[in-house]
Amino acid sequence: MWKGRDILDILDFTREELDGLFRETMGFEEGRKEGSEALKNGLMSLAFFEPSTRTRMSFEAAMMRLGGKVMDLGEMKASSVTKGENLADTVKMLDFYSDVIVIRHWLEGASRFAADVCTHPVINAGEGMKNHPTQTMIDLYEIQREFGKIDGLTIAVVGDIRHARASASLLLGLSLFDVKKIYLIAPEPLRVRSEVKDRLNAAKVGFEERDSLLGVVENADVLYVTRVQKERYSDLGEYERVKNSYIINDDVVKKMKPDSIILHPLPRVDELGVTVDKYRQARYFEQARRGLHVRMAILESILGG
Ligand code: CP
Repeated sequence: MWKGRDILDILDFTREELDGLFRETMGFEEGRKEGSEALKNGLMSLAFFEPSTRTRMSFEAAMMRLGGKVMDLGEMKASSVTKGENLADTVKMLDFYSDVIVIRHWLEGASRFAADVCTHPVINAGEGMKNHPTQTMIDLYEIQREFGKIDGLTIAVVGDIRHARASASLLLGLSLFDVKKIYLIAPEPLRVRSEVKDRLNAAKVGFEERDSLLGVVENADVLYVTRVQKERYSDLGEYERVKNSYIINDDVVKKMKPDSIILHPLPRVDELGVTVDKYRQARYFEQARRGLHVRMAILESILGG
C-alpha cells in the first residue's frame, strides 16, 4: 500500500489513505494477520533521542510479530552520539544496516532530515512539538472504531496544546476530516500555536478556544487529554503554575455523555485521575493496545509485499 514510503507528517496523507490503513489495521485487530511472517528477514532500527515506552515498545512488538527483527541505537550515552557524532552520520549507519529507521527527536524536522540522508524508509516516532504522525493514526483509528466515523463528531482537546505534539498532530489530522466542531481547552500559556490554528482555518474546521471545561464536557463526543509537557520548560516555576490547570476526575466524567470517550496518548501524570479508569468512557488503554495493530499495518504497508 505504502511501499518504501516515509512516515513524517500526518498531512503527507489523504483521508482515503488513512481509511486504507484503518482497513489493514482491522485485519490485525481481528487476528486474521496475527503471527504472519510478512516481514521475515526484515530489520528495523530504532533511534530514540527522547524517552518513550509505548511508541518504542509497540514498534518493536509490531516488527517482531510480523516476523522481523529489531536493533536499537539504545541510550544516547551508549552510542557515539555522546562523542559528538552528528545526526546525519548516525542515521546513515542505521540506513546501511537496516530496512527501516524509526526515529524520535526533540528537534522539529529531524525525521525529514534523516529521510533525506537515508535510502530506506524513515518513520517519525514523535519530534519537537508538532509531529507524531503514527500516534495520530492510532488516535484517528480509535475514534473510527468507537463511533464508526470521524466526520460529524465534536472533539475537545484539553491540556498542553502548545507543547504536546500528540495534540498538534491530532489537530492536523482532524483537518483532513469533516468534524462538527473542535474545542481547544487550555489556559493562555498552553494555547494552540498559530501554525496549527492556520491549518485549521485553511481547512475550514470550526474550532473555538476556551479556558474552561464548563459547557464543553457535556457536549463532546471525544475528550482528548494531554499532560503538561514538563520537559519543554526551562523555568520549572512556570510549569508548576500551569501543571494542574485541568484534572479529569470522577466529577468531570459524570457530566459527559454516556457514549462519549476519553482518549490520552499517555503517559499521564496528574491531569487524568486513575479513578477514571473504571468508567466506560475511559478508552485510553484500548487506544494504546490498538496502537500495536496500527503500527503492524504501517510496517507491513511500507515493507511488505
Ligand atoms: N504516546 C506516546 O508517544 O507515548 P511514549 O512517549 O511512551 O512513546
